[in-house]
Amino acid sequence: MTTFLVLHGPNLNLTGDREPEIYGQLSLQAINERLFGWAEHRTIELRAFQSNHEGALIDSLHECRAWADGVVLNAGALTHYSFALRDAIAAIPIPVVEVHMSHVANREPFRHTSVIAPACSGQISGFGWFSYVLGLEALFRLAKGET
Ligand code: DQA
Repeated sequence: MTTFLVLHGPNLNLTGDREPEIYGQLSLQAINERLFGWAEHRTIELRAFQSNHEGALIDSLHECRAWADGVVLNAGALTHYSFALRDAIAAIPIPVVEVHMSHVANREPFRHTSVIAPACSGQISGFGWFSYVLGLEALFRLAKGET
């Protein structure tokens, strides 16, 4: 069975409460539930994990290479400066799709740089919680060898 991991980085546990005009009003749990629904329809096993700690995200990337066929990663602000996270993505042999709920290219200049992007299979940004669905769709196609 195809298995994907959705990995949420720092501050995303506050989604719904945190700057809802930017990140929307759905809680992270509500978003995950929609993603589990997406997976169920496609007979995909989906696991989700959130951490505010860079090292825990790196551990999770290392560990999932044993069982996951791909990762949808919203690295939060670590996107913009974490070379350690970028190296962890490059170190694992499975595709990682970078996602952002907000349209980062249209925000503050520091958000225009993604140091993880070169290690990822692609990047999706600006579609709210649906960015995660688009990331999963991209992984699904990659897993089927369609892209
Ligand atoms: C984010 C964008 C990042 O710049 C920010 O630091 C986040 C969330 C997004 O989903 O839009 O925490 O990754």
